[in-house]
Amino acid sequence: MKHVSIQNESPCECCGLIPLASGMKSSPRLVARSGAMKEGLRRASRFAASDAPVVVLGETGAGKEVLARVLHTNSARGGKSFVAINVAAIPAELLESELFGHGKGAFTGAGGVRRGLFEEADGGTLFLDEIAEMPLSMQVKLLRVLQDGEVRRVGENRPFSVDVRIVCATHRDLSALVGDGTFREDLYYRLKVLTLRVPPLRERTEDIMELASEFLRTSEDPVDGFTEAAKECLLKHRWPGNVRELHNAVRHGLALATSSKIDVCDLPDEVQNGTASLVHNAQESPELRSLKEVEMKHILYVLKACDGSQAQAADVLGIGRSTLWRKIKQYRESST
Ligand SMILES: Nc1ncnc2c1ncn2[C@@H]1O[C@H](COP(=O)(O)OP(=O)(O)OP(=O)(O)O)[C@@H](O)[C@H]1O
Ligand SMILES: [Mg+2]
Repeated sequence: MKHVSIQNESPCECCGLIPLASGMKSSPRLVARSGAMKEGLRRASRFAASDAPVVVLGETGAGKEVLARVLHTNSARGGKSFVAINVAAIPAELLESELFGHGKGAFTGAGGVRRGLFEEADGGTLFLDEIAEMPLSMQVKLLRVLQDGEVRRVGENRPFSVDVRIVCATHRDLSALVGDGTFREDLYYRLKVLTLRVPPLRERTEDIMELASEFLRTSEDPVDGFTEAAKECLLKHRWPGNVRELHNAVRHGLALATSSKIDVCDLPDEVQNGTASLVHNAQESPELRSLKEVEMKHILYVLKACDGSQAQAADVLGIGRSTLWRKIKQYRESST
């Protein structure tokens, strides 16, 4: 659970938002140099004035939680808690008591009363990350809370009211999930009152060097920049893992740098090569690679950029999770 409080920051010139959200561990400053990101912030500043639910859409690692935190910090609820939960990370059977709390003896092991995250977030914002992964049985319970403004702890009969703004995020196409029956249509329309879209990093190249420099600045390493060739690599890369992948690449560079500037050879292999040069090398190589090999190399690269999450990797690759799982299994079998 993470809490955020307002900081004494001067508002951003472009959108009037307070750009800094304390409690952000890895990057204390919000970077928005590109027109696309500035537009996102302008939207967020207007949504901060409202109390309606918000859905934040965007690829993995693009900055959905960052934007949700900025939205909260700049809203009237900014002085209260920002409580974040990754719905996909909690086992389905624990999600209800996590969100709504439980009474004493509600189930085996429930020794005492426990407050749920709705209670923790009372007066503030509850950020439901990876909302698309919420089991259908929980979706109906969430819908009821949104309709009634009341929660009931597991194992207790008495409901009580809570005042929570819901902001949720997903990297998936929620309307498609409604279409195939895995996301409730009524909940979809309840949540999707306001929509914020975080553009992928490859569509806002102006942010790349600014972010990379910010990550360097906060690293406490003596390294103070990038060689021209390294900058070129960073700007050309497609960043399927977005800002998180860029941050990892800078960490990689910092770990290997032997001078005051990060060079190309200090960057991760996939950033050095880029998919374009991967194809180029394959064509030039006397040992031409099979499509399967190139495919597997790309799958492994995307998996790495998604921190090993098969669900997110499948999404970036545009294939089903079971297809991805089958391909990895085939690859493992053929390489043993
Ligand atoms: N505009 C930005 N300025 C500074 N840091 C950023 C920015 N956007 C993202 N980051 C950093 O990049 C990382 C990923 O951001 P965040 O967790 O918000 O992404 P996300 O879209 O919620 O990812 P996921 O889909 O995996 O949940 C975090 O460490 C965050 O601090
Ligand atoms: Mg997130």
